[in-house]
Amino acid sequence: MSDLPLFIPVILGTPRQGRMSEPVAQFVVQQISQRPELETELIDIRTLNIPSDDAGETLKDPKFSALMARADGLIIVVPEYNHGYPGLLKHLLDTCLKEYIHKAVGLCGVSAGAFGGARVIQNLLPVMRELGLVTTFYDLNFSSVQSLFNESGELLDPEPQIRRLDRFMDELIWMSRVLRNGRQLGNH
Ligand SMILES: Cc1cc2nc3c(=O)[nH]c(=O)nc-3n(C[C@H](O)[C@H](O)[C@H](O)COP(=O)(O)O)c2cc1C
Repeated sequence: MSDLPLFIPVILGTPRQGRMSEPVAQFVVQQISQRPELETELIDIRTLNIPSDDAGETLKDPKFSALMARADGLIIVVPEYNHGYPGLLKHLLDTCLKEYIHKAVGLCGVSAGAFGGARVIQNLLPVMRELGLVTTFYDLNFSSVQSLFNESGELLDPEPQIRRLDRFMDELIWMSRVLRNGRQLGNH
């Protein structure tokens, strides 16, 4: 069993100008960077420039593919758009498959409304399963996100979010470690 740090990158799942998912993703990265048992980095969907004249693994981006292959787990910060997920996020996720298989994923929903992206998370669950990812029991939810941050992108009341993030990460880290150990045991 490996004691190496887990690599758990954070995907910022919208390219929208003025996106409030960005301070959420930055908060998550900043907090989890402090955990000695893991390494992380922000993957901003806006920077990847996946072409839109095709779909699926033919569009595989070498950098994104390498990050997914290296990852032991994933966090996806996903805004709720008409109760669904941004099309560009799905377009990006569809460019990989074997890179994800039997790895843990934690979902962080972001919404202007009161439900903290609960509906987009429900819609993303079957996609996660089809990609071979294993979802955690806990999600993170940022509701009324437009009123949670100051102009510098800092949470106005960080303590409750830090508590929820710690609980979410405890489970995601446990699952990521268990699945890494399982993958190292070989084919099932
Ligand atoms: C196309 C679109 C559809 C949206 N649909 C919803 C929705 O169904 N429910 C909701 O609570 N907020 C909805 N919103 C508001 C977003 O949740 C809000 O912008 C929030 O800040 C998260 O998205 P962002 O990261 O793009 O800012 C929608 C926003 C856009 C751009």
